[in-house]
Amino acid sequence: MTEIKGTTKVCGLIGNPVAHSISPVIHNNLAKLCGIDLVYETFKVENDLVAAAVRGAYALNIQGLNVTVPHKQKVMEVLKDIDPLAEAIGAVNTLVRVDGGYKGYNTDILGLGRELEDAGIDIYGRDVIILGAGGASRAISFLCADKGAKNVYLFNRTVEKAELIAAAVNGHFKKDIVAPHNIKDYSALTGNDYIAIQTTSVGLHPNDDEAVIEAQDFYEKLAAGVDVIYNPVKTKFMRLVEAQGKPAYNGLKMLLYQGIASFELWNNITVSKEQIDIVYDRMKRELGIVE
Ligand code: ATR
Repeated sequence: MTEIKGTTKVCGLIGNPVAHSISPVIHNNLAKLCGIDLVYETFKVENDLVAAAVRGAYALNIQGLNVTVPHKQKVMEVLKDIDPLAEAIGAVNTLVRVDGGYKGYNTDILGLGRELEDAGIDIYGRDVIILGAGGASRAISFLCADKGAKNVYLFNRTVEKAELIAAAVNGHFKKDIVAPHNIKDYSALTGNDYIAIQTTSVGLHPNDDEAVIEAQDFYEKLAAGVDVIYNPVKTKFMRLVEAQGKPAYNGLKMLLYQGIASFELWNNITVSKEQIDIVYDRMKRELGIVE
């Protein structure tokens, strides 16, 4: 840990719960590696105290905050400014100190964008399948539209939730990009080159042997698969993608890069590839992950 002095800037995480967050490991290591006089703590904040916490943080000269469940929407009510993509998504996970308050960003989504780049996956002009229609799916749908996906096929068990996301994204981009479907109807897909992004909670530890779609004919149609889950490190979804000889990625890099993006915003720097690799190793060690 950095030696804490009178000059040390404070950043932190608000949410509930926060005790087991990996973010302190990411940011305190980044501070040390980048030679930045900054310390990162977690702050458990109750639902009715989100506004008070953000105002208090500003008053205490806190440099920046991450925001996690369940406050990512609520926090938007007390911000000075919001990045347009985060505003459209309707969720903020990073607050950057500006004159008179904080500006909100969604680095979860910037994180996935960088993970895809790392994997050499370019969404532009591609047909994308998203499985699930929760908070992650909503953000990823916006990302795909923002990155110029040709079509996004949004599959969910509760089709109404997919319809709401599709309406929000298509309304925002004034174009029919996202098409909502019942997950039972995946066999209607006729292409064979889809990028599939798995956002449901199916397959999360301890249900390591489940995938939201198990049929092989679905996986035959994919060019690559990304699971936002990172525990287990290789989900059943990823194994089914790989069984077709196609690359599959988990959510670890997304987690890493959301932290990197927040740190860069707070400190107005670019973290180097070498520093990112070191933090990634430390993050995995802390999570007990061997890849
Ligand atoms: P997050 O905010 O992390 O995206 P979430 O909002 O809890 O998570 O969303 C979970 C997603 O997993 C939803 O799309 C959910 O489907 P429903 O909208 O129909 O509830 C999906 N999901 C969870 N369990 C599922 C299951 N057994 N079969 C199919 N989908 C499932």
